[in-house]
Amino acid sequence: MSQENYLKIIEPIIKKAGKSAFKKWQKFDRQNVMLKGKKDLVTQIDLDTEKYLIKEIKKVYPNHSFLAEESGEKTNNSPFTWIIDPIDGTTNFSIKNPLWSISIALAKENEIIFGAIYIPFSDELFHAYKNKGAYLNKKKIKLNKNINANKLIHTYCHGSDKKSRDKAIKYYTLQKQSSVDCRQLGSAAIELCYVASSRVDSIVIPGAKAWDIAAGALIAKEAHANVLDFKGKAWTLNSSDILVCHPKAKNQILSILKKIK
Ligand code: IPD
Ligand code: CA
Repeated sequence: MSQENYLKIIEPIIKKAGKSAFKKWQKFDRQNVMLKGKKDLVTQIDLDTEKYLIKEIKKVYPNHSFLAEESGEKTNNSPFTWIIDPIDGTTNFSIKNPLWSISIALAKENEIIFGAIYIPFSDELFHAYKNKGAYLNKKKIKLNKNINANKLIHTYCHGSDKKSRDKAIKYYTLQKQSSVDCRQLGSAAIELCYVASSRVDSIVIPGAKAWDIAAGALIAKEAHANVLDFKGKAWTLNSSDILVCHPKAKNQILSILKKIK
């Protein structure tokens, strides 16, 4: 059976949403950011973008389920679930940092079969289908095999709960001391795309949420990155932590993660 052309459906939707959010970002006043928990920010643009994405995808797939950051889970008894982060990197968005993105994945049962991430400031669309490779603006991408193991650059982020923050701080401290650099770019979806395109070599996330990483995990995996939990086993949507890296970075990162339980 031929595979459904999800990209054809999602590309115009994600780009229209991204371009509209980008215009609003250029005029965004930081005073308008809202707190949705003690340490989680949200803007009206997150809410409006999510509504638009769900409305447009529902027009094509009215029977599919949805798991979206701002509105939660809407189950339709379908094996297909769209996993959506309308703005990944809301803190960056609110401080005029352009590193934010829109992330859309499609899972069948518990397996991600399609993912797309659009970065409005650089007009970059990353996408992947399971077992079909990863693409940046429709050109195939793969990790750089010739990367120098002494020059690896790492990234990290974390869930907003205390345990995840504690783990991330410990990881950052050890990694920052042992490598060229370890940075928090502030959008997990972008960090995953940057691993997929060998712009950085790893991302470590304790307490990752499915909407932050579902699309990016597939894109990175299809670009031949290792996609693992903190014990080095294959990551699944049920794993609470995720490590995505160039194979040359794997052992060094796992040895640090062993120390930070
Ligand atoms: C956040 C970003 C950030 C990560 C946070 C996420 P949001 O997403 O991905 O990099 O550290 O855990 O919540 O909240 O801006 O969509
Ligand atoms: Ca978000």
